[in-house]
Amino acid sequence: MIIAWVVILLTLGSVLFYLVSPWQLTPLASNWGTMDTTIQITALVTGAVFVAVNLFLAWVILRYRHRAGRRADFQPENKRLEGWLTLVTGVGIAALLAPGLWVWGDFVRAPEEAHRVEVVGQQWRWSFRLPGEDGEFGRVDPRALEADNPFGLGEDPAGLDDRLVMEPRLLLPQGQPVQLRLRSKDVLHNFQVANFRAKMDLVPGQVSHFWLTPTEPGDYQVVCAELCGIAHFAMRARIDVVAPEVFEAWRDGLPTQADWLARANPDLEAGRAHYASCAACHGASGGGNAAIQAPPLAGLTPDYLYRQLELFRRGARGTHAEDGPGQQMRPFALQLPDEAAIGNVAAYIATFEPAISPPAEAGDSRRGAGLYRTCAHCHGARGEGVAATRGPPLAGLPDWYLIRQLEHFREGIRGRHADDPYGNQMVDMAQMLVNRRAVEDVVAHITRVGTGTEEE
Ligand code: CUA
Repeated sequence: MIIAWVVILLTLGSVLFYLVSPWQLTPLASNWGTMDTTIQITALVTGAVFVAVNLFLAWVILRYRHRAGRRADFQPENKRLEGWLTLVTGVGIAALLAPGLWVWGDFVRAPEEAHRVEVVGQQWRWSFRLPGEDGEFGRVDPRALEADNPFGLGEDPAGLDDRLVMEPRLLLPQGQPVQLRLRSKDVLHNFQVANFRAKMDLVPGQVSHFWLTPTEPGDYQVVCAELCGIAHFAMRARIDVVAPEVFEAWRDGLPTQADWLARANPDLEAGRAHYASCAACHGASGGGNAAIQAPPLAGLTPDYLYRQLELFRRGARGTHAEDGPGQQMRPFALQLPDEAAIGNVAAYIATFEPAISPPAEAGDSRRGAGLYRTCAHCHGARGEGVAATRGPPLAGLPDWYLIRQLEHFREGIRGRHADDPYGNQMVDMAQMLVNRRAVEDVVAHITRVGTGTEEE
């Protein structure tokens, strides 16, 4: 008796919760209103079945509950009832699936005029490629994937003007259809933007695709919706839907594959000349100066140096009120006249003999080794850095600098800026270090692992 009422209350409560729950769909920001219709049909059909089955269960409990002297009747076959059940279930399933098939058909068939963007996923970051003036993507070859050829572009001349977006931030023009072509470098990922009602798997060895028309200007978050490894939760990107003119100006300012190749041939003499103003704080050969909190630069990769100089220049680093040394750095970064100069000075710094700092005095390096296992996925098992994840080398950096940066990430003094996507990721990862002691432990390990003085 009681159990029947519990079932009835649970059923009605569930329906009520669905209707008044604060967790509803985000506002729709694309043309895919049909997705919402499909979701509503699904909720309606499954909801009706849920209510019917549970109320039937409650009714059966009430109607056929135990009464003295009454015996159950066993009826293994009932052709009529089975026929009805099959028919009703069949209609229900068809009502669930058929609308989805129409929507899916539209979802993968992009209109002729759609412009195209390639989405590349890898553990644990997103990058994007847009075709150049010729409107064609250069052919890619997975065998050509290298640290200095992150898109794996082959010999195809059509690829030289392809525009590359190395950072997980994409602009899309409002009101214009875009086809997204997705590929993965390693494992399954899933590209999802909830407000667009759009998601699709990235499958290694295949190019999957869908299209959409963004309808509302704003910032939208891309998440990876396929468990793809330890930093899956931090695999995010941002899409800004903007006016078409803004999109075009952004697109035309993106580096091309040809620019990227040119960066591989920097002018070291020009870099040396620019480095003169850095040398006062960071030392003539990039050794750093602890007294004025200038970290060593020797041993850092050109890719990382380039990115940080860019961040300082655009105010995404070194602008936080509590980042004193960062604020000091910013005007120096702004002295560099252009991107070629950034590339040259970064390349010049990379010619220095890597710095070696003494092992940290504080911290338990054995405990730190356990914590470091998560960091190793992006920064390398020996802190040597990993080009594919763009994780900079940590080995050789002094303890005071590592501690300060980790504390800054933990507190959001570094890495919170919307234009610093890798910093955002690092803010998430640094939360794993729950207190100052954990920071010191992991730094104790990092300062030993690169120099061969770690405890086994
Ligand atoms: Cu990529 Cu989860």
